[in-house]
Amino acid sequence: MKHIKVVDLLNNTKTLQEVTAKGWVRTFRNNQFIALNDGSTIQNIQCVVDFENTSEETLRRITTGAAVAVTGTLQESQGKGQKVEIQVTKLEILGDSDAEKYPIQPKKHSLEFLRENAHLRVRTNAFGAIMRVRSALSFAVHQYFQERGFFYVNTPIITGSDAEGAGEMFRVTALPFDGTPRDEEGKVDFKKDFFGKETNLTVSGQLEAETYAMALGQVYTFGPTFRAENSNTSRHLAEFWMIEPEVAFNDLDANMDLAEDFIKYVVRYAVEKCADDLQFLEQRLADEEKQKPQAERSEMSLLEKLNFVLENNFKRVSYTEAIDILKSSTPNKKKKFQYLIDEWGADLQSEHERYLVEKHFKCPVILFDYPAKIKAFYMRLNEDEKTVRAMDILFPGIGEIVGGSQREERYDVLIEKMKALNIPEEEMWWYLDTRRFGSAIHSGFGLGFERLVLFVTGMTNIRDVIPFPRTPQNAEF
Ligand code: 4AD
Ligand code: MG
Repeated sequence: MKHIKVVDLLNNTKTLQEVTAKGWVRTFRNNQFIALNDGSTIQNIQCVVDFENTSEETLRRITTGAAVAVTGTLQESQGKGQKVEIQVTKLEILGDSDAEKYPIQPKKHSLEFLRENAHLRVRTNAFGAIMRVRSALSFAVHQYFQERGFFYVNTPIITGSDAEGAGEMFRVTALPFDGTPRDEEGKVDFKKDFFGKETNLTVSGQLEAETYAMALGQVYTFGPTFRAENSNTSRHLAEFWMIEPEVAFNDLDANMDLAEDFIKYVVRYAVEKCADDLQFLEQRLADEEKQKPQAERSEMSLLEKLNFVLENNFKRVSYTEAIDILKSSTPNKKKKFQYLIDEWGADLQSEHERYLVEKHFKCPVILFDYPAKIKAFYMRLNEDEKTVRAMDILFPGIGEIVGGSQREERYDVLIEKMKALNIPEEEMWWYLDTRRFGSAIHSGFGLGFERLVLFVTGMTNIRDVIPFPRTPQNAEF
């Protein structure tokens, strides 16, 4: 008999039919009640075993983690919290799970413990919920852009271009490989390893996406990016996924509009489609907040936070205005943000970003017109010749979620800038072609997908929102 997904069984009002479900045992109570989960929803379906007509041997093998197939009658449930249950007539153990050895016990495990078992943690309610929300958000990303006529572009993962300057790169080597260039001593010449060229894993698909925007108009990338920064923080991964739209003829204002509209769309999508999972994650977060001292607790629940973002405009503030706010602020009563005083041009630290978003404006903030010195070479220089048309979107509890800009479309200005920063023109000839032939105003941004998932799920460590986190400590899988 063909099995039916638990999510469909639970929504089924046609009871008294015979059904088969397949999944994994979460708990087995009183030798009678199996809570069966098949991953299709956070909810389990209760399966009532006729223990008098089931062998001792079978009953013994119904353990947490075991894979089973149950066939029986779908009935209205007498128990609380569920509409239907399966009155089991046939039960088959598909795969045993030794209760003594199975690492995922029916109890609350620490996130640290679960991180060490990344291959099993998705079997818990929390990680099942997070990964379903992550999947829904990915779909929403494509749906948003596809509905608006953007084209999905796959930019290279292995690249010879390192002009982005977004972070340290991972070198790509081909070992062992007969054609590998070697030095006189026969050692691999790492500088020329990719068929005689030096290549790296991409830090961003932007520069390549720009070339496509200058032909297809509106494009986006959504792929893995890599940064070899050794940042042991709860916001950084060595391998993360980034969404990068790039649009011809959009200026910085249009870029901000796009980013805000896009973020609201995907958050709304998750709120609407992942209600059960978000309800669970909201409760999880509430329990976690209870552990904190009163003063540090969040005033809003997870769904309140998500709805707040949907209902309010992001506050748009220039870097210079932000510095003025920070200069006159006293975050810890007496102490000012000392280092910023008279330091126009300094990069904001996360404590400053947090202050602006969480204490001063109390909503998402788009900071724009940053000092040229602290931003990448490709950003459009403003008339003041000091600032560039850059924008960063800062989110409460997350910090920077988006980085973007209007791009420098003027060939001469771009060349000057590259010279000043020692960016080799000869390696960037293909990028410069976009400015040589039919150049036009264009803009784009990059959204760190895991930071979005962090925000939507209310999790606090980025390692917990990607299936297999790549950080300086985690690369086993
Ligand atoms: O600000 P970034 O470095 O911008 C770029 O790479 C541009 N080329 C994007 C563009 O304009 N097309 O990175 C963009 C976003 C950040 O705002 C952050 O959300 C995320 O990527 N990000 C990271 N996420 C996880 N781990 C890391 N190590 C990250 N570094 C950046
Ligand atoms: Mg950035």
